[in-house]
Amino acid sequence: MNRNVEHSDWLSFTPTLSPRSIDLLYADPPFNTGKAKTGTRGHAAKYQDSWPTTASYIEWLRDRLAATLPALKPTANILLHVDYRTSHHVRLLLDDLLGPDRFVNHLIWTYGLGGSSPRSFARKHDDILFYCIDPKKYYFKPPRVPATSRRMKGQTKKATDVIDIPSLNNMASERTGYPTQKPLALLELLIGACSPPGGTVLDPCCGSGTTLVAAANLGRRPIGCDQSPAAVRTARRRLALKQSGK
Ligand SMILES: C[S@@+](CC[C@H](N)C(=O)[O-])C[C@H]1O[C@@H](n2cnc3c(N)ncnc32)[C@H](O)[C@@H]1O
Repeated sequence: MNRNVEHSDWLSFTPTLSPRSIDLLYADPPFNTGKAKTGTRGHAAKYQDSWPTTASYIEWLRDRLAATLPALKPTANILLHVDYRTSHHVRLLLDDLLGPDRFVNHLIWTYGLGGSSPRSFARKHDDILFYCIDPKKYYFKPPRVPATSRRMKGQTKKATDVIDIPSLNNMASERTGYPTQKPLALLELLIGACSPPGGTVLDPCCGSGTTLVAAANLGRRPIGCDQSPAAVRTARRRLALKQSGK
């Protein structure tokens, strides 16, 4: 059995980690959409995504982030993946927990797919808040992405804070059927930029295990947990496939 992934609540899992052992905390918690999330393609996964108030959601997150901070190295980074519903509240929460001078970037992941409303601009991005533990020490290697201009055809350029990577379509081979599964390409870009080679990457809401597989692909040590048994099964299966080289 793969011990990189535990079946646990984030709150009870991270205090069991060694102090100052984690290089990158990436968390993609429920977004407080108000609707339960269920799997596709017969996937048994289901998780609740509803809090009575925004304030109670933020308190839930505050408790878990605070319980995780002792496990982070002084050179570590935090990436918190949320959306328009709470990003402004979560930014204030992180300012409060860490200090506003620990803010590094507000990343926009723009993904294209999905519906639109006749009453608003189409909502096509998530927000990833990037904070560090120590502004003088944090690890960062600027990622490079393919250049799009004709002049630089075939070359790469430094990535900006707007990351344009498609979300997984129904035919994508990496798709597991787990709800809100993120693309490996997104996690590989983030992990490559924000954690050192050989470092340890923690995802305490690991879902289908995308972060953990991306970390393993890049030679980082993955650690994760999820409260859902179906998530843990899926993440363990994906990591085992990776380790067997399939
Ligand atoms: C947005 S999904 C993560 C999707 C994941 N990034 C992926 O690519 O598959 C959020 C996850 O948080 C988990 N979760 C919710 N509350 C949790 C808690 N208190 N502790 C640990 N995991 C939790 C859910 O079960 C769900 O798998």
